[in-house]
Amino acid sequence: KNVSIIGVPMDLGADRRGVDMGPSAIRCAGLEPRLEQLGYAVRDEGDLIVRRAKAYSAVPESNLKYLYEIVRVNEELADTVSDLIVGGRFPLVLGGDHSIAIGTLAGVLRHKESLGVIWYDSHGDVNTADTSPSGNIHGMALAVAMGYGHPALTGIGGERPKVKPEHVAIVGARSLDPGERDFLKAKGVTVFTMHEVDRIGISRVMEQALEVATRGTDGVHVSFDLDGVDPKDAPGVGTPVLAGISLRESLLAMEIVSDANVVTSAEFVEVNPTLDSQNQTARAAVELITSLMGEKIL
Ligand code: ARG
Ligand code: MN
Ligand code: MN
Ligand code: MN
Repeated sequence: KNVSIIGVPMDLGADRRGVDMGPSAIRCAGLEPRLEQLGYAVRDEGDLIVRRAKAYSAVPESNLKYLYEIVRVNEELADTVSDLIVGGRFPLVLGGDHSIAIGTLAGVLRHKESLGVIWYDSHGDVNTADTSPSGNIHGMALAVAMGYGHPALTGIGGERPKVKPEHVAIVGARSLDPGERDFLKAKGVTVFTMHEVDRIGISRVMEQALEVATRGTDGVHVSFDLDGVDPKDAPGVGTPVLAGISLRESLLAMEIVSDANVVTSAEFVEVNPTLDSQNQTARAAVELITSLMGEKIL
């Protein structure tokens, strides 16, 4: 019942300013008191420091942007998450862009032989430097967690197990690059696209996603990119994609995951309050987090 909030004001992985204010926006939307109402002992660990780079460091023979600073922050995040788990605390990481999933997962994987992952996102985030159209590392985070990508990224957190493709379920996908489609098929990652969400409904999708993420695993990490939610409900994200999962469906999704009692760690990323009005997206994030953490209407 001990929850730690870790803010990571990272915007280098998306190469667009504003998402660094995500942790602050989510705190402003009332996260801590809402978790306390659920009976948790909440500790805010504050924010990690992300140095503002003047320009991106060029990486020889690749398009990777801001590689070295992203590696540094994720090493620190991996250590922070790992220490919190040792102390018996549930790590709840607030982004920042999705590149921080690299550090969160590296930290959790020091304590898990086989971790399941639910990746709630309109994107796959399984690019590598070779397939990325942008060079933005937030579009590579899930590939890195499975062990694919630049060695400086896959080496984060030291020697530890990787996420296995058969334990990953992507939910909400509707924008995949050509190289990502090939990768997902080749590795056998389970992807619930909007086609499946519309055909069988979010509750069956989540039941099946949980089956994938729990079969043969010792815990499930929820990596929630707010751009998985429809832009009408979550407009404050850097890379919005039309025709997504509604907030209502997404809250149900989190309730279903919560009821399974398998979640070891979570992160909520890509909230960019500069693209928002009335802090709408951070407020949605707080509702999603409390639903994941067991809030019931009655
Ligand atoms: N696939 C695109 C890219 O690699 C977009 C990635 C968006 N990722 C995200 N975490 N919002 O640049
Ligand atoms: Mn993402
Ligand atoms: Mn995304
Ligand atoms: Mn709620």
